[in-house]
Amino acid sequence: MDDHKIKVLFVCLGNICRSPMAEGVFKKIVTEEGLDDKIYCDSAGTSDFHIGADPDERMCRTATSYSVNLLHKARQFAKSDFDRFDYIIAMDNSNLNNILSLAENKEKHADKVLLMREFDPQGRGEDVPDPYFGGQKGFDEVYHILERSTRNFLNHINS
Ligand code: 4NP
Repeated sequence: MDDHKIKVLFVCLGNICRSPMAEGVFKKIVTEEGLDDKIYCDSAGTSDFHIGADPDERMCRTATSYSVNLLHKARQFAKSDFDRFDYIIAMDNSNLNNILSLAENKEKHADKVLLMREFDPQGRGEDVPDPYFGGQKGFDEVYHILERSTRNFLNHINS
């Protein structure tokens, strides 16, 4: 990981649906904006349910339909991520609370943990809904939320 880059970690529960999509959409926008040499991103899950797994097939199909590449193997969020990353972006409030409960140095670490939809102009502060137990509509909705939110987040960190 290049030390001079701004480092962003997207986090959900399983790391097979929402956070790999956030990572893929954000990477695409970062590349389009010519910022690959300035920004690094990754994703993780708070649970150990799917460690080592590829992203969910339904999310992969959705990503492909919007020309987004999902190249990731699920991993669990680790306490060491607090020091490795500048921004830790939780997909929902439950993820946010789970991440914060692992922070040993709250003063140092809590400020870098943010909710993804703090950056969504259409639903500020809401959860990115978990699509895992639902139908295709939910996966498309997650894509659109993440496209808006990650674009706005990039403007925030790049300004
Ligand atoms: P994600 O979705 O947190 O967006 O990756 C889920 C994936 C798996 C499960 C729940 C949510 N699960 O219960 O296995």
